[in-house]
Amino acid sequence: MSDHVADLRRKMLTGGSDDLPDHPQAANLQDLLLLDLMPPPLTLPIPDQYRVGLVAAGRIVHSGVMPAYRAAGITPLAAADPDPAAREALRALWGVDRLYDDYRRMLDEEELDVVDVNLRWDVGLSPLRVEVVREAAARGISVVLAKPVAETWEQCREIVELASSGGIKLGVDFNTRYAPAFYGCRGLIKAGVLGPLISASINYHSALGRQHTNAFDAVHDVCVHAVDVIQSWFGEAPVGVYGNWSRRVDGIGSVLSATFSFADGANASMLFDFATRHRRQFEFIAVGEAASVDGLQDQELPGPSRMLRASLRYGPHEPRGSALELPLQYALSPQSYLATRADLLQCIGTDRQPWAGGEDILRSMSTLFALKESIRCGLPVEPSVQGRQLD
Ligand SMILES: NC(=O)c1ccc[n+]([C@@H]2O[C@H](COP(=O)([O-])OP(=O)(O)OC[C@H]3O[C@@H](n4cnc5c(N)ncnc54)[C@H](O)[C@@H]3O)[C@@H](O)[C@H]2O)c1
Repeated sequence: MSDHVADLRRKMLTGGSDDLPDHPQAANLQDLLLLDLMPPPLTLPIPDQYRVGLVAAGRIVHSGVMPAYRAAGITPLAAADPDPAAREALRALWGVDRLYDDYRRMLDEEELDVVDVNLRWDVGLSPLRVEVVREAAARGISVVLAKPVAETWEQCREIVELASSGGIKLGVDFNTRYAPAFYGCRGLIKAGVLGPLISASINYHSALGRQHTNAFDAVHDVCVHAVDVIQSWFGEAPVGVYGNWSRRVDGIGSVLSATFSFADGANASMLFDFATRHRRQFEFIAVGEAASVDGLQDQELPGPSRMLRASLRYGPHEPRGSALELPLQYALSPQSYLATRADLLQCIGTDRQPWAGGEDILRSMSTLFALKESIRCGLPVEPSVQGRQLD
């Protein structure tokens, strides 16, 4: 916890006296507005001198990655994609004109500091993700990698080990942990104004998309976001995960329901609804011994796909029924995609590792693999990576 947050917490919970109360207490609502809920990567200067190369230029590059770079005044130097239409779109829409049909040729011919890899992890492409990290690490090039790291646990470990042994920075684009309402919830938890956490839940009703098709592994691809966000709130891996994935009905979809249990007796749940059509909502609640926080996270997609306005509301247990909606000061897109990249760029040349890197992403992925194993065997499973998350 930063000194600033620790001071504020003391002030909010004690009215200025030096002693924290014995029992968890809610924050004074006016003081709560003083809390800074902005992620540091978005408030610190973002270096713009590094030469970035893109590997793959599909959907997410146009909707999240390039808007993020543009917001920071960065134009990637080069890009590689075997699809001529993808290369042409990148040139025409974003002004990236050093284009390659093969990523290895790009690495050989350009002097890059960072590769931003947005290959799919499924459709047999995870081995290529590992290969790109190996090639980048061998050249001392840092890597941003689209979530969810890779298809298998062994590939995830290999990616982290290659980055570590190559001495490069590795950041995974777990952008949802930086979504304003989710990150704000984490800020309130860490400021201590909820008291010790008792429970949290995230419910997602996607209402459209390839998640509704049986050909797509929506648990691996989409649920990983909530698995990662829940860990960013609790600051540690659960000790047990139980998941049930409903029937996957052709042409309709499926629903994932999961429970997490933590070492201190807290729990969390997630419901990912890939079947409903009339409800598009990403809602959450976290409850502690002193107060709760609830809200919605929008995805800021184009018109027909928009969800409800993002919101973050703090409700102390006493006086009963009182609540305060807190201002959210940035948008999910492009800022959450920028936050993961800014964090990596700010780490280059320092001893620091990106927040979504190394052990941290292995912890999230091990929880995802535990969830998948629980779905398979029908029993609770303990994630293989335990321990607390770094601040
Ligand atoms: N953080 C998020 O919220 C978020 C959202 C969407 C997608 N994603 C992730 O981003 C990744 C990409 O998803 P997408 O929807 O952009 O996929 P996509 O299918 O739209 O694009 C993939 C691109 O990769 C290119 N490609 C294939 N083989 C290649 C190779 N050998 N070298 C270079 N490029 C190659 C394809 O030509 C295509 O342009 C996935 O892992 C997905 O999980 C993350």
